[in-house]
Amino acid sequence: MLYDWHNISDIVSGLADNALKEVVVGGKNIGLLKKGETVFAFAATCPHSGAPLCDGWLDARGHIVCPLHKYKFDPKNGYNSTGEGYKLRTFPVEVREGEFFVGILT
Ligand code: FES
Repeated sequence: MLYDWHNISDIVSGLADNALKEVVVGGKNIGLLKKGETVFAFAATCPHSGAPLCDGWLDARGHIVCPLHKYKFDPKNGYNSTGEGYKLRTFPVEVREGEFFVGILT
């Protein structure tokens, strides 16, 4: 797969831990979640009916809860952990020499 890699270090430095944040990167709306030194990136809208996932919250396992119908997704891999059979698109995040980059498919 061919990714366009975008430096998101400035955005990441402003992220609160364990908070969902929607941002625009490379013309695309994505959601970000920082947990300690790890950052997860995922589609900003729910794969079920398109609700804004960053208006949701995290459950006790750290899974994203959609604000509309409460389906849950693992931010690591997009797994729909409440079992409705959807898949949240995720984007790779890499740390290179202390800088954060997110890969968006071209
Ligand atoms: S829109 Fe997210 S669970 Fe329905």
